[in-house]
Amino acid sequence: MTADLFSNDPHIPATLELGRDAVLLRGFALAVVPQLFQGIEQAALAAPWRHMETPGGRRMGVATTNAGALGWVSDRRGYRYEACDPATGRPWLPLPEAFAALAGRAAAAAGQGGFAPDACLINRYAPGTRLSLHQDRDEQDLAAPIVSVSLGLPATFLWGGHARGNAVHRVPLAHGDVVVWGGEDRLRFHGVAPVAQGTHALTGPWRVNLTLRKAG
Ligand code: SIN
Ligand code: FE2
Repeated sequence: MTADLFSNDPHIPATLELGRDAVLLRGFALAVVPQLFQGIEQAALAAPWRHMETPGGRRMGVATTNAGALGWVSDRRGYRYEACDPATGRPWLPLPEAFAALAGRAAAAAGQGGFAPDACLINRYAPGTRLSLHQDRDEQDLAAPIVSVSLGLPATFLWGGHARGNAVHRVPLAHGDVVVWGGEDRLRFHGVAPVAQGTHALTGPWRVNLTLRKAG
């Protein structure tokens, strides 16, 4: 754990090392929240929120849309990236500049400079919704990191190891927090515990997560 000298609260370090190549940057997105919400709204106009189906036929609890040249999709045929929304046949919203710029700055702050994402998965969680432990491994180039931005209701990030059965750490995530994982931590299992009931001043009854990746 690294205490950042510039943290306002001496008891809450601004950065928390989650691994050699993984870090939580607390509040890193706060300065660009209005631009992020504008992008989320536009993405959902271009490709409406939907609950995707898992390859096993279960309806996912999170509601999803995408922005970027590629978007992550799941259905009976499996998990993959698509240039067009299968629901409409139209391209996703191009990656908003504010998303790409934030992701680049966060990756650089995490010591993983040169990150140029081409995909942003946007997940919306209602209270009670969880995301079970998984690895992000549908991307072609596993050398690029993942940048994950938390907005709205708080959540508990489940941060595991390289095997599904490894110990899982519970990491509180607040509005504006950014987690970056790459390098030797790129394939760590992770997930989100059921989101607690609540209302957030900006999002109301939702948590929204942006996951920026280099998919193609
Ligand atoms: C994900 O793993 O795709 C999302 C993680 C999160 O919602 O914080
Ligand atoms: Fe993930």
